[in-house]
Amino acid sequence: MALPSKVKIVEVGPRDGLQNEPGIVPTQAKVALIDALCGAGLRVVEAGSFVSPKWVPQMADTPEVLARIAHLKGVVHPVLVPNMKGMEAAEKAHAETGSIEEIAIFGAASEAFSQKNINCSIAESLGRFQPVVARAKELGWNVRGYVSCVLGCPYEGDIDPAAVARVARALWDMGCYEVSLGDTVGTGTPLKAKAMVEAVAAEVPVEHLAVHFHDTYGQALANVLAVLELGVATVDASVAGLGGCPYAKGASGNVATEDVVYMLNGMGIETGIDLDLLAQAGWGISEYLGREPSSKVSRALKAKRGILG
Ligand code: HMG
Ligand code: MG
Repeated sequence: MALPSKVKIVEVGPRDGLQNEPGIVPTQAKVALIDALCGAGLRVVEAGSFVSPKWVPQMADTPEVLARIAHLKGVVHPVLVPNMKGMEAAEKAHAETGSIEEIAIFGAASEAFSQKNINCSIAESLGRFQPVVARAKELGWNVRGYVSCVLGCPYEGDIDPAAVARVARALWDMGCYEVSLGDTVGTGTPLKAKAMVEAVAAEVPVEHLAVHFHDTYGQALANVLAVLELGVATVDASVAGLGGCPYAKGASGNVATEDVVYMLNGMGIETGIDLDLLAQAGWGISEYLGREPSSKVSRALKAKRGILG
């Protein structure tokens, strides 16, 4: 299949990235990051999660983040919602700010990971998602579905692509408009990624699939390219390569948005993102966190800027 001419990037850094920080990042720093990302041209930027503050304290200020970000026209800020309690909190935040158009439910292809991440089995999780999706539809909100551990699980090891396809199909049948396939631990390699996407695409139309690669083993960009060749045109990425997963020890951040945009620019594939402004957004949050971005493109641009003054 020909490569897509356009790719939609879903920026997950402010959620997937910052949920894993050892410390709490102040609301204002999150707001500055999200606004800078939108200023760089990103049109889908996750803003947080309505999960238990005991489990993930880093996301407890999601209502304040939603209240303070700029909400540019045409930009969507999805938030994660695992159950009806989260849905009630999301509705309350929406009533105060009018700011939610899209939520994401998140399941897994691995039983053990489902238990560690959301404290229930895969079947139970699908049961919990059902009323969430139904309520979202009543409100006119879009629902995105995540499947974690699509190329391996930190507790179970290899995952059968058929198991990924089953959960993806269940999310699709439930009414998710897009299903994002998460290599949570970042162990995947390109041919395995292709085989997994092919198995899922037999159940969910490929144009409704997104990929979500973590870069723990440095394979994420290669995996992205491999699945673009199958017709996938939505890629999740995290500015500066922020993050990991609190329930996947050792997993690193998502593929860096700067690296994806640089690669796509070089291939003539449109993203609508200004790479320099994106890199600046990454430098801002990295400076706040006191470390260098893990994105090679970001570091190269920074070095070039240093040389050029
Ligand atoms: P639970 O303990 O099974 O829920 O948690 P429960 O119904 O038994 O309730 C227990 C307590 O949690 C109660 O509070 C509830 O009120 C509260 P207590 O009486 O003990 O004070 N509670 C909630 N509070 C706020 N918001 C809620 C909520 N639900 C219950 N929505 C739950 C179930 C899912 C909430 C919990 O396990 C949790 O919060 N887990 C964290 C999940 C998470 O955020 N994981 C990271 C995101 S997923 C990810 O990163 C992967 C992804 O990037 C893709 C990839 O890379 O693979 C998406
Ligand atoms: Mg993730």
